[in-house]
Amino acid sequence: MRPAPPEPPPPAAASAGGADPASLPDPPGQPPRGSVLRALRFGRDPLAGIRRLQLRWGDVAMARIGKRRLYVLSHPEMVRDVLVTHHRNFVKSFALQRARVLLGEGLLTSEGEFHLRQRRLSQPAFHRDRVAALAGTMVRYADDAANRWRAGMEVDATREMNRLTLGIAGTALLGVDVEGEADEIGRALTDALGLFDRLHNPLAPLLDRLPVPGTLRMRRARERLDATIYRAIAERRASGEDRDDLLGMLLSARDVEGDGGGMTDLQLRDELLTLFLAGHETTANALAWTWHLLALHPRAEARLHGELRDVLGGRAPGAADYAALPFTRAVLAESMRLHPPAWTVGREPLADFAAGGYRIRAGSIVLVSPWILHHDARWWGADVDAFRPERWLQPDFEASLPRFAYFPFGGGPRKCIGEGFAWMEGVLALATLARRWRLRHVPRAAVAARAGITLRPVGLRMRVEAA
Ligand code: HEM
Repeated sequence: MRPAPPEPPPPAAASAGGADPASLPDPPGQPPRGSVLRALRFGRDPLAGIRRLQLRWGDVAMARIGKRRLYVLSHPEMVRDVLVTHHRNFVKSFALQRARVLLGEGLLTSEGEFHLRQRRLSQPAFHRDRVAALAGTMVRYADDAANRWRAGMEVDATREMNRLTLGIAGTALLGVDVEGEADEIGRALTDALGLFDRLHNPLAPLLDRLPVPGTLRMRRARERLDATIYRAIAERRASGEDRDDLLGMLLSARDVEGDGGGMTDLQLRDELLTLFLAGHETTANALAWTWHLLALHPRAEARLHGELRDVLGGRAPGAADYAALPFTRAVLAESMRLHPPAWTVGREPLADFAAGGYRIRAGSIVLVSPWILHHDARWWGADVDAFRPERWLQPDFEASLPRFAYFPFGGGPRKCIGEGFAWMEGVLALATLARRWRLRHVPRAAVAARAGITLRPVGLRMRVEAA
């Protein structure tokens, strides 16, 4: 039995509620200006950087990046304060604001009233029934991958999972089969994300306007993605067809609680590109990490195969099987605990606020990290670093966790709109592939975690074997 999680620490560690934040001290231990970039090695290994900060300074850790203060808040109550209780005091941090260059005013990047309206318009497209209606697409693409695989074949599991989720996203979002163009679109998405390479570069706004190679590559990538999306919108408008995919839902959405209007082509483009970007690589990484962990834990893998045999008996899964596959879901949950694809969530406070008895200044960067919280033995017990999917099957396990000890999909009004989609896709794709195949690391495969915008496994060379 896993030990009951300890009581949260005394209020000193949580938000200081009503105190005037300006009267509170800054968190201790701030290193001298400028040294942090080196100390954190933020560019090269941000994961180790924020881990070091938390280990050294605890639940309220502060550092400076150039002129900016950066805080890492690592207590579940502080996460709740930032994402839920005081969410109005925060906007997305500068990383996502920068993403506007590419994503415009999509759900991920927009703020305030406009975000609320777009969220209202998009929400019905993610209703449980709509997601269930997309299950067939999810399974079809996973089955295609399963048919492509051969015993003894070597694959890069990260790349395979990206190809899979990109195919699913193309059909589920736009109703077009982009799998044939998957490599090209995948490259365009990667190039477009090159935008973030300049995250810490003060000259970024200037570079974005100059015809230097990085900028030209990004522009070409954006044009490539825009062409696919605008083509899909134009074809659908012209055909007048009413289809089940997300594009169809978004096209017919009307803001009945607000102005009664729908979305312009530009808004549709921003939302669809956002969904493409937010939805496909995150899920691909969750699945790729899962293959890595299953290969390292044959007992868990055997139990997974057992569940798939018992429930499916050799047929492909469907939406109705989701609830009958609790261990498959637990495998994914535990994989996202150890390797949360969105490993950090960033915000910028509009006004000073209090956390753990300290002053957190307006205009700073506040990071709350699922990766940190998911690896904290205070909430997970001594086996915090072990891959134990069965922990999720214990009665009342999730209810016994402090809220925000586990938050791979964020929380509050900006919580991931695609969470239900991602669970359905993850469970069905894993079930479809694992009922036929297992993957093993090839000798000398050097797997590493690359923490960029998402937490991605690199070097995941694996050999396909019959399950
Ligand atoms: C395992 C897969 C996924 C993970 C781990 C994940 C994680 C997250 C997280 C942590 C956020 C909150 C970001 C913040 O508060 O700053 C978020 C937001 C978002 N996600 Fe996901 N996501 C996943 C899959 C998806 C999918 C499949 C879609 C769409 C099809 C999607 C669309 C979005 C959108 C549009 C937002 C912005 C929501 C808003 O601000 O209103 N995500 N996601």
